[in-house]
Amino acid sequence: MTTAIAPARTLRIGPIELDAPVVLAPMAGITNTAFRRLCREYGAGLYVSEMITTRALVERNATTMRLITHHESERPRSIQLYGVDPATTEAAVRLLVEEDRADHIDLNFGCPVPKVTRKGGGAALPWKLGLFRDIVTRAARAAGDVPLTVKMRKGIDSDHLTYLDAGRIAEDAGVAAVALHARTAAEFYSGQADWPAIAKLKETVTSVPVLGNGDIWSAEDAARMMVETGCDGVVVGRGCLGRPWLFGDLARALGQPGAASAEPVDATLGFVARAFRRHAELLVEFFEDEVRGCRDIRKHVAWYLKGYPVGGEVRAALATVSSLSEIDDLLGTLDLDAPYPGAAAEGQRGRAGTPKRPALPDGWLNTRDLGAEASCALADAELDHSGG
Ligand SMILES: Cc1cc2nc3c(=O)[nH]c(=O)nc-3n(C[C@H](O)[C@H](O)[C@H](O)COP(=O)(O)O)c2cc1C
Repeated sequence: MTTAIAPARTLRIGPIELDAPVVLAPMAGITNTAFRRLCREYGAGLYVSEMITTRALVERNATTMRLITHHESERPRSIQLYGVDPATTEAAVRLLVEEDRADHIDLNFGCPVPKVTRKGGGAALPWKLGLFRDIVTRAARAAGDVPLTVKMRKGIDSDHLTYLDAGRIAEDAGVAAVALHARTAAEFYSGQADWPAIAKLKETVTSVPVLGNGDIWSAEDAARMMVETGCDGVVVGRGCLGRPWLFGDLARALGQPGAASAEPVDATLGFVARAFRRHAELLVEFFEDEVRGCRDIRKHVAWYLKGYPVGGEVRAALATVSSLSEIDDLLGTLDLDAPYPGAAAEGQRGRAGTPKRPALPDGWLNTRDLGAEASCALADAELDHSGG
């Protein structure tokens, strides 16, 4: 199913050497330990947590402390932080490092959600150069030997691009890599990611790896991004929703020989059903609660079954399951020998959205310095996100 196009290579992020230049994109509500373990079982690379709010971490919010806990099989342990305040971000990084809770820390500067950008957080923040520099510099210093990376968007909109400045600043601050989701906040998840922007960042940031992100739906896409942009690795988000085995295909296409089994994935419906069942079981373990775990797997049903001959009734029933035995009964009704359906199972999945004018604090775009007014907006930019 997968043909190797790009030359086999590894990726080094600080002291971490990965067998394949592949990173699972942080996705809130998705990349918990259950999904990360599942993806890792198929492939090689780095598997990043969903974003963790620095304030909630520093306050040791119980949910947050659970979210940052890795399974013993998860090495290296990777945690993404979201913060807007240099001191809180530094304290959160210090907590992770001093308590030996992470082997890699990523900072999120790409969130386009209006309730975040309205207060100057997420993708709006790198517009304020001094604040961005302060957060990244203090975080990188606090991280010490633990590699710290930055994930960002191109900017706020096409007239207010930030990624090249942010890339240079992050490089100077001592980050171990930078990742670019090649869209602006205004684009949300619409249209096509601007891969040439990844090439431009690669020309700008020369001393640490540049990772490309956006619209990788297959291993061939990943290989093509690496060839077309010269990026050092890929970050894959929506493409692996309902397809955790994509990480096996990616390792075979991009990684070292032997990084994953040489057998190509034969994604029959039986294969998909086993992956779905395993995902549900890992979610039950993560939540320590069968009903909660099964409730969480519901959102993955349509992604797993995309393109497969499964009737509406079974799909609907799977989307309301509350127990593993219910799942087993429903999966037992499927034609498990049904072959991989090809194009019908491929292509876009997950969020798309339409372009919107980003919500920003008043006067945010007037200056790239942080004035008193902008500081006030930022003061409560994390409050909505307690709990990670
Ligand atoms: C459901 C969902 C949740 C996301 N949560 C986060 C997050 O917590 N942190 C982050 O940096 N990006 C987050 N993203 C953005 C992804 O990491 C990624 O940059 C984006 O989906 C583009 O990559 P893709 O085209 O491979 O999906 C999220 C995306 C989705 C679809």
